[in-house]
Amino acid sequence: MATITASQAEQLLKLAQEASAMAYAPFSKFHVGAAILTQDGAIFTGCNVENSSFGMTNCAERTALFSAVAAGALGREKELVALAVVNREGAICSPCGACRQVIFEFGPDAVVLYRAHNGQIVQNLAKELLPEGFRLR
Ligand code: THU
Repeated sequence: MATITASQAEQLLKLAQEASAMAYAPFSKFHVGAAILTQDGAIFTGCNVENSSFGMTNCAERTALFSAVAAGALGREKELVALAVVNREGAICSPCGACRQVIFEFGPDAVVLYRAHNGQIVQNLAKELLPEGFRLR
């Protein structure tokens, strides 16, 4: 099973918390931040970005992942190692189904940290959060 160190987990959670301060969430008022670690050791962060046309909303996880892809740090053989996602106020916040699919694409073995429904921060592999995830390659 893929793992990250306790200090890597702590760092990603801290950066995700910081990123949640950037969230643009005037409609839900649910401010989310994410931080990811790539195979090369690079870290990217993201926040949720809502829109008056609600369906255009981008979750924090996908903002971070897409930033890494745009920087050439993820995809094309560069795997995702870990992702942390938090709500600014510490509310329960597990990755939505759409984000699970996107996370899975970049790292089925990636460690995903989030506050689960039991109230605790938990770690799961992306492939556990999305069994039989869809792939074209
Ligand atoms: N949201 C995220 O950014 N990540 C999650 O894991 C769950 C939900 C956002 C989407 C929307 O802006 C707000 O939280 C409420 O759903």
